[in-house]
Amino acid sequence: MGQILLNGIVKSYGKEVVVKNLDLTVETGEFLTILGPSGCGKTTTLRMVAGLEEPDQGMIKLDDKVVFSRNDGVVVPPEARHLGLIFQSYALWPHMTVAKNITLALKEQKISKSEIADRLKNALEMVQLTGYAERYPSELSGGQQQRVAVARLIALRPKILLMDEPLSNLDAKLRTEMRASLKRLHRDLTATTVYVTHDQIEALTLSDRVIIMNEGRIMQEGSPYDIYHHPANIFVAEFIGDPGINLFEGKIDNGKIKCSDIEIPLPENFAKNKGRLIVGVRPEKIEVSETKKNGWQEVVTGIIQPTGANTIIEVKAGETPITLLQNGFITLPENSKLWINFEHDTLSFFDPETQENLRNNVG
Ligand SMILES: Nc1ncnc2c1ncn2[C@@H]1O[C@H](COP(=O)(O)OP(=O)(O)OP(=O)(O)O)[C@@H](O)[C@H]1O
Ligand SMILES: [Mg+2]
Repeated sequence: MGQILLNGIVKSYGKEVVVKNLDLTVETGEFLTILGPSGCGKTTTLRMVAGLEEPDQGMIKLDDKVVFSRNDGVVVPPEARHLGLIFQSYALWPHMTVAKNITLALKEQKISKSEIADRLKNALEMVQLTGYAERYPSELSGGQQQRVAVARLIALRPKILLMDEPLSNLDAKLRTEMRASLKRLHRDLTATTVYVTHDQIEALTLSDRVIIMNEGRIMQEGSPYDIYHHPANIFVAEFIGDPGINLFEGKIDNGKIKCSDIEIPLPENFAKNKGRLIVGVRPEKIEVSETKKNGWQEVVTGIIQPTGANTIIEVKAGETPITLLQNGFITLPENSKLWINFEHDTLSFFDPETQENLRNNVG
């Protein structure tokens, strides 16, 4: 129970095609995240699953039941799809208290009064809003309203959950806590979940599987590990990771890739190639030494940003900027010398023409 299937979904607004021939299967109980930049079609996709938007073409099945088919003229309305929804604009009923907002759908399902009271209490506890039951939405902050919307889902216990940026109005600390609550919620409900966000941390921390979307198309789908370590192309490599991946374009020459100011030795299977390559390396994968080491590249420090547990270090090799990420709270004066090293198995190689990853084995 709970599988979602999208087949050949196309959606346009006027002349703009915003979802382009999308195929997608979400398995029962899976937590799938759709991640992508603003305007790539994430909300539109979710709204089509919910039945709030009609595709121009394609078919959508929920639990083996066709809920939309352009060819067969099937359109099941949203309320008959039995989904739990939280949308970017987390519409609460303004004239109803928090308690009423949370329990409305339960009353419609003819659930007993004591069961409703239990679920309400539990849901308010989970989103840390115990004591707010009798307030009206206008008496809550944006973040609190969002948490009421989450509580409504917790109380409803649906088999399919669709969430569109449910944490976007929360401050950093609450966001981390709520992320854990959502993960727990998903585990407890074993609900099939489609989660939309442009926040990569949410995608990486919550998901069984991530879909990276850009301009209405899927750029890659995979586990959070694969998306981070084996990006299929330059778009994904750059989109995931903060601070971002370092990319160096250069010419293959004598077993090395020669960029303007640095040389990176290539593994054997690439060393024989000819032409140009783009090398990608994540900031935390570059080795750093404060003392000179043979064969390591000398660099000069620029801005240093300690973030608490880690430090982002901007350096330059000649004119080429490189970002490093080191454990710990590091303070170094600007213009200090450092030496860096690239390990073969931490590098990705991209074709400058197609932008595709040529070897998916960044460790
Ligand atoms: N009702 C509408 N009428 C016309 N264009 C629309 C409509 N809804 C969305 N669009 C356009 O479709 C594209 C995709 O929008 P969508 O809301 O799906 O993006 P998104 O990926 O959710 O972005 P964000 O991260 O900013 O929420 C955008 O270019 C948007 O301007
Ligand atoms: Mg959106």
